[in-house]
Amino acid sequence: MENQRTIITTSALPYANGSIHLGHLVEYLQTDYWVRFQKMRGHQCLYICADDTHGTPIMIRARNEGITPEELIEKSQKEHEEDFDKFQIHFDSYYSTNSPENKELASEIFKAMEENGHIAKKSIKQSYCEHDSMFLPDRFVKGTCPNCKSPDQYGDSCDKCGATYSPTELMEPACSICGNPPVEKDSEHLFFQLGHFKDFLTEWVPKHTAPEVSNKLKEWYEGELRDWDISRDAPYFGFEIPGHPGKYFYVWVDAPIGYMSSLKKWCEKNNVDFKEFWNGEKTEIYHFIGKDIVYFHALFWPAMLHTAGYKTPDGVFVHGFLTVNGEKMSKSKGTFISAGTYLNHLDPTYLRYYYACKLRGIEDIDLNLEDFCARVNSDLIGKIANLGSRGAQMLNKKLDGKTSEMTDRGKELLASAVNKADEIADLYENLNFAKAITVIRDIADETNRYFDEKAPWKLIKDDAIETKKILTDIINIFRVMSVYLKPILPEFTAKVEKLFKEPEYDWNSIHQTLLNHEIGPFEHLVTRVDPKKVEEMVEESKQ
Ligand code: 2FM
Ligand code: ZN
Repeated sequence: MENQRTIITTSALPYANGSIHLGHLVEYLQTDYWVRFQKMRGHQCLYICADDTHGTPIMIRARNEGITPEELIEKSQKEHEEDFDKFQIHFDSYYSTNSPENKELASEIFKAMEENGHIAKKSIKQSYCEHDSMFLPDRFVKGTCPNCKSPDQYGDSCDKCGATYSPTELMEPACSICGNPPVEKDSEHLFFQLGHFKDFLTEWVPKHTAPEVSNKLKEWYEGELRDWDISRDAPYFGFEIPGHPGKYFYVWVDAPIGYMSSLKKWCEKNNVDFKEFWNGEKTEIYHFIGKDIVYFHALFWPAMLHTAGYKTPDGVFVHGFLTVNGEKMSKSKGTFISAGTYLNHLDPTYLRYYYACKLRGIEDIDLNLEDFCARVNSDLIGKIANLGSRGAQMLNKKLDGKTSEMTDRGKELLASAVNKADEIADLYENLNFAKAITVIRDIADETNRYFDEKAPWKLIKDDAIETKKILTDIINIFRVMSVYLKPILPEFTAKVEKLFKEPEYDWNSIHQTLLNHEIGPFEHLVTRVDPKKVEEMVEESKQ
């Protein structure tokens, strides 16, 4: 294809010590919409991801469960992949950061950082548990907040008053693994000297992030870019740093490298040279991430790639957080909902549709459970799916199951729907899924007005030929809407393809019309949300 783009797309790698929840899905779903859209347009667009497997929390969790970290991450990856699959999130490669490819790439990139003079050694004081014989990450020290005196706070910040501090400032500090008070101990750490990249980042960040994001980052790169501590002492579940026995890469070093190694795995399977592909002049690289991890992706990561001779990303797309019913997700309110719990009660198509209705860029989005039911039932089902099901069922039951010619009015309406293609494509390209849905819904509104005005269910008594033409109009416009919706509702559109006995749609399918065409037997495209099921899901999440 002429103008075919080559695109590498990633979502943040989920940690291997937790389940996927509806907050995570805000990101995986929007990335999936975007990738599917690019593929429909005929581009080569790969969706790359992996499990983020290293670090102390995973090591400790495995220990608590009485299994090895390898067993834990294997189990977790399996669960994650199953959840993604059920939500129709399709990765071209889903791998693990605990892979030989990742180890090799992490070593290569670190060696470049070191050879180019960007690694410093410094001795630091850290909390150490003599009972567990290990240094404790801030989150593994608990105690009383030095500011507001609330008990049971983490070593880095207080949940109650928001104060931030170091674990040594906590009152009555205790190791969260064994409960004993930690001691302070010196250890030598390796630091990546981010300050060396000040000029590079000052230029890079505004060009590769949205203005809201780069303004926020300005505070950092215009001020002092502090050295980044990239090593951890044994015991640590991760990769040992080459040339520094007993020191391990901090999980955030090899995590983004996991994007590369997962792609490398894909390259091996597909006989593509990884380095040429990544660094290809034509290749575009985009990371979808949440606003909490911008620092890693827009400062450390480009600096690491730059010094190692790899192409830096073409864009970092940042999105906000999810609230449920206007509030932070809460376990006690049952609004901290895992992907698995959702799937026990509801069809993933609903959430795919609802998130798309809400996503328009960097702002937080709210999942209001009442609005969720209303939008799905009144818009997706009442306005969109019903056109297809009423049209097709009538054609099958009352007529001979074949379309005919279209009416002139129908041709006009269809042309107007087809003419929206560029506008909708632009909205998809720019991640304004909410507006794209609005445009599609407008087509549905207009078509429904036409349907009601013509009342084919009455007309059929007098004029079967005219009725058939009107149903042909409806079916063709509905079909175009289904093509537009395919990136968001792949399963729904697959049913439409089957109903109309057609091969898989791509973006250009909007230019065909189904005239004198036999359609297949009708199967439900999507059923109504039952608000009771939503309540049951919330109840299950409370447990
Ligand atoms: O914040 C997180 O959940 C991390 N596991 C994301 C890693 S993204 C990438 F850099 F690997
Ligand atoms: Zn301890």
